[in-house]
Amino acid sequence: TGAITLDPGYKNSGSCKSAITFLDGEEGVLRYRGYSIEDLAEKSNFLEVAYLVIFGELPTQTQIEKFENDIRKHTLVNEEMKGIIDGFPKHAHPMGILASLTCALTAFNPKVVNAECEKDMYEAVCKIMGKFLVVATWTYRKINGYPLNYYDNTMPYVDNFLQLMFKLPTGPYKVNPVVLNAIDKLFILHADHEQNCSTSTVRMVGSSHAGLFASISAGVSALWGPLHGGANQAVLEMLEEIQKDGGDANKYLAKAKDKNDPFRLMGFGHRVYKNFDPRARIIKKAADEVLAELGVDDPILKIAKDLEEMALKDEYFVARNLYPNVDFYSGIIYRALGIPTEMFTVMFAIGRLPGWVAQWKEMRVNKEPIGRPRQVYVGEPLRPFKEMNER
Ligand code: CMC
Repeated sequence: TGAITLDPGYKNSGSCKSAITFLDGEEGVLRYRGYSIEDLAEKSNFLEVAYLVIFGELPTQTQIEKFENDIRKHTLVNEEMKGIIDGFPKHAHPMGILASLTCALTAFNPKVVNAECEKDMYEAVCKIMGKFLVVATWTYRKINGYPLNYYDNTMPYVDNFLQLMFKLPTGPYKVNPVVLNAIDKLFILHADHEQNCSTSTVRMVGSSHAGLFASISAGVSALWGPLHGGANQAVLEMLEEIQKDGGDANKYLAKAKDKNDPFRLMGFGHRVYKNFDPRARIIKKAADEVLAELGVDDPILKIAKDLEEMALKDEYFVARNLYPNVDFYSGIIYRALGIPTEMFTVMFAIGRLPGWVAQWKEMRVNKEPIGRPRQVYVGEPLRPFKEMNER
């Protein structure tokens, strides 16, 4: 088999060829299918971007209308899924519920998707885009003990996210355009990010020819961790902790630099971006606008600003190219928009869904081999079996 190259964390190994997302970590460039993230965030909308990421081209008016309509046809979730939701304790984390529900969808949608058949794949895309959004918001309804809301066919996709989350049984839901616009932008910025941990997981699981929903469910679990998508929740919890502890950002900066302390500054650093995270730039601007428009005055934001300013000037952070990443600002903006902290990573998952689907599809269409890394064995050499009385 020849010598094995060891690369823990795949810091230098490409796992596949992909035509979906271009990322230049040195220059801070991010493009979906050749379109800059800046242009897409400003001129497009989430559903269009989802279509672009998955199918490769920006949709025509007819294509996007059909796409939205076809998604709508798949927003009903089997009533028996509610029994599964009921089984979760109220304190369950929404990401755990979401991963389980996504996998459970397989049981109600058992058709094996043939990724190479355009019609099959298109139907599967519409199904998961519809059902995932609904069950994602149901995790929030569940942990709060609220009745579940259903998709409203008179509303667009992202508006539906808001009404599914927040509509009260007592009346219609009025969408705040500032909130809607910010959430749409956040979803766009999260839509794909090439071979990150959750996407690689989706590809890895799918490479055994496991189904689309099962693969996406694995992606949700991978995203949950605080070093990946879970960082947005961890950022807010960190800021709250600093606030409770007297608001001294400097103290936490020192903790982050102390190699004997496992604490890391959440929302700082990135495996690929070493100058800045272009998504963070766009979100920071959006966060400033939203906070001004909504008139939010939150002491947590002051701590975030202090931390950011100090870290950007600090030798430790500068030397290691540690900049605020997308999760640093997304947590702040979600909070200002009234999204509960425990739902932050679910927001990331809704945004990332098109990327996971696109990468799963590409992997299958390209007939990628099963993912099966090798290892360097460092355990015991062959030894004689030890009988029970000798152990
Ligand atoms: N606070 C303090 N020190 C840090 C941090 C941080 N947030 N991030 C990296 N470092 C240090 C690290 O200790 C190491 O120092 P040294 O060279 O002295 O040993 C050096 O910087 C390089 O770090 P690394 O862990 O080798 O870098 P990585 O590429 O393996 O990890 C990362 C990248 C994002 C996991 C890491 O920067 C981190 O843990 N950040 C905090 C969590 C976070 O914000 N994650 C969200 C990432 S962006 C969106 C997403 O992917 O979901």
